[in-house]
Amino acid sequence: MDYEKLISLANEVKQNAYAPYSNFHVGAALITNSGKIYTGTNVENASYGATICAERTAIVKAVSEGEKKIKAIAISSDSEDYIYPCGICRQVILEFAADDLVIICSNNKGEYKVFNINEILPHAFVFKKNY
Ligand code: THU
Repeated sequence: MDYEKLISLANEVKQNAYAPYSNFHVGAALITNSGKIYTGTNVENASYGATICAERTAIVKAVSEGEKKIKAIAISSDSEDYIYPCGICRQVILEFAADDLVIICSNNKGEYKVFNINEILPHAFVFKKNY
């Protein structure tokens, strides 16, 4: 798994971020179990709550092309701080996580930290109809 390639793709796509409200540009790049790569940016909206994060953009692109398992997802922003996925994105990542999924959180120096889904989303909600 080439973490640095995914980070560099996330950085590249970040230029397409639509973030006129926060001016916080985010890019994400993921690789699926079948080896395909999808990228995404945040897409903001005048109605702030309608904003879509970069991670979910990339995931929705992949899933709508028939991909259901993500092996790795990298996230980048222009910040010197590491960027971590928001709570909603953590739950969406879980939905399509391959068993060995890794989440690669980077900063603007190209440094990164790697997590698995249990570290990023402990005690996750899973839907099991038992009522
Ligand atoms: N954002 C992402 O795209 N991904 C994250 O992991 C955190 C936040 C976006 C949403 C919004 O457009 C902007 O960053 C500020 O919250």
